Amino acid sequence: MERRGRLSLAWRIGFAIVLVESVVLAVLGLIYTQRFAAAVDARVESQALLPGRLFNTGVLRFEAIADPETMQQVVGEQLVAGLIVSTAGVILLADHPAMVGRDVADVGLFDREALLSAAAAPSVQQREKSIIALTPIYATGQTTPQFFSYVEMDTSAALAEKTANLGLFITGSVGTLLATSFIIFLSFRLLVLRRLSRSVDALGRFEGGDLSSRVPVYRSRDEVFALEKGINSMAARVERTVAELSASLNRTEQTLEATVKVLANAVAIRDLYTEAHQRRVAELAVRIGERLSLSDDELKGLRVSAFLHDIGKIAVPVEILTKPKRLTGVEFSIIQNHPLVAYDILRDVPFPWPVARIIRQHHERLDGSGYPDGISGDAILVEARILAVADVVEAMTSDRPYRPGLGMDRALEEIKSKRCVAYDSRVVDACIAICSDPDFEFAERGSSITA
Ligand SMILES: [Fe+2]
Repeated sequence: MERRGRLSLAWRIGFAIVLVESVVLAVLGLIYTQRFAAAVDARVESQALLPGRLFNTGVLRFEAIADPETMQQVVGEQLVAGLIVSTAGVILLADHPAMVGRDVADVGLFDREALLSAAAAPSVQQREKSIIALTPIYATGQTTPQFFSYVEMDTSAALAEKTANLGLFITGSVGTLLATSFIIFLSFRLLVLRRLSRSVDALGRFEGGDLSSRVPVYRSRDEVFALEKGINSMAARVERTVAELSASLNRTEQTLEATVKVLANAVAIRDLYTEAHQRRVAELAVRIGERLSLSDDELKGLRVSAFLHDIGKIAVPVEILTKPKRLTGVEFSIIQNHPLVAYDILRDVPFPWPVARIIRQHHERLDGSGYPDGISGDAILVEARILAVADVVEAMTSDRPYRPGLGMDRALEEIKSKRCVAYDSRVVDACIAICSDPDFEFAERGSSITA
């Protein structure tokens, strides 16, 4: 459970880090931006109240309020309006002469109640795009104000400053979150995805036949580690099983080989010629099969079939087999029965190849003129077609009780003359190519069957 949980735990921790970081950044952002905004507002308010304080300390004269340039030097570029108002609400001085002598309520700046409520101390009113500061002004030795300084300042620049600061903080926060997420993603990629890719590569090699392929194990004791170990354990077991099966198959093939040898020897005891004939036909048939690109498995079946192809002749009396004269019709019929006898002997043997059928067909001909079934064309197995040609060539080149060997040229002439009629053209061409090679010759008749 511990191994299975580590990576999931790490992933959850990474997710929690990003989540906590998001919350912390949001809270910090809220506090910081609020404080920043408050500081900006305080600065603006201080600027707005500054003219009143200067009046009270005598630094500014009343007349200065009517001079926009002087007021702008005091409050900065943001000045909208500067007035001196009496406690009765009459405008005494203004940067706009038309406003002098008018009631503050009439010009819509603020009402008299607001003016009186602000009498005790400086006050500030926030409006949508500006700030208004009212500062009571005292005459020397007086405890109640005689005038008010009214200053209105544009707050667009302050608002833009606060917005820019908020944007900067959001950009920084998002960048920090992205960087953290990327670091977590990169760590996950290094720790997990790269290892998974190596596992997939190893599995691909294993699937491609490299049974010794293993996954490099990274000892992290997490889920991927369990997967890597599992794959290697499974691969080792499969490799071991395949080795055992291969050894078992080898033993089976050796047993099969020995069985074929025993059967061939049984033929040899009665008829040495037939035993040697089968061995030499097998030699030529396999070479033809190789030239026709038969698979290794098909070649094994062809070789075994060739070794046993005349085993049915054990049912033919020796006198007929070794008769030095021309055979009678009856004797020839007995001889022609040998493919069926072989089939009956071998049909229940569980060869991994169709040996019994190949042998039954080895005297069939492409045009249907053969025996015992008279089948033709593609109905004849390719191994039987090869066997037919190798059989004829070996038989014609060998000495028989009733005639000496006819020679390779006559044998090749025979199969060439019946190419495409009795014999498969590709098989004939391959046989001619092999037997025309000056280096080709059949093995000696005394050679062992297992050679
Ligand atoms: Fe035969």
